[in-house]
Amino acid sequence: MKKRILCICGSIREGSINQMLMNEVSSYIKDEVDLMGFRIDRSIPMLDPDSISTVDLRLIYNMKKSIKDADGIIISTPEYNGSIPGGLKNIIDWISYKLPNEEDAKYFYRKKVAIMSASTGVLRGVRAAMHLQDIMMHLKASICHETLSVQIVENVLPPHEIISRFAYALRDFFN
Ligand SMILES: Cc1cc2nc3c(=O)[nH]c(=O)nc-3n(C[C@H](O)[C@H](O)[C@H](O)COP(=O)(O)O)c2cc1C
Repeated sequence: MKKRILCICGSIREGSINQMLMNEVSSYIKDEVDLMGFRIDRSIPMLDPDSISTVDLRLIYNMKKSIKDADGIIISTPEYNGSIPGGLKNIIDWISYKLPNEEDAKYFYRKKVAIMSASTGVLRGVRAAMHLQDIMMHLKASICHETLSVQIVENVLPPHEIISRFAYALRDFFN
């Protein structure tokens, strides 16, 4: 059976270059794995442990279920001020936060996670990718040793060889 891979875009922007990168990488591996897209829902509130009871938790449970049901995850993150965007951090915090009727919230524990970053800047978002790696290590995810960080200016994607090499590593990691 094909592995189910959740593709999380760390940007909520309509014309996100991280979503572009995700689509491109996906096109290389779509025959070997089942890919499911995941965009961050803008209506997800900031996590405030003191006011959980006031939040409609359906969206949160759905997010947690998406992570639970996936055999693996690919996250593509933009870089905001040398780190990952707040929106991405907020959903990771929600997913790893134990809600009152949960036994635990170890959704990332031993989950296979591959990390990419795309930025318009010359540093290609590597600092965001490294911070995301640290967060996933904290959550004891099983992290893919290959990462892909690319600069995308005026929607020009990196050359075929770069994507293809990373896609090869992903196939190996997820299967
Ligand atoms: C608040 C803010 C901070 C940013 N900081 C950085 C940064 O530190 N390094 C960087 O390479 N790009 C930075 N950028 C540029 C983004 O990486 C760039 O806009 C990228 O296209 C965002 O990805 P997206 O198109 O997927 O949303 C920043 C953008 C914003 C809005």
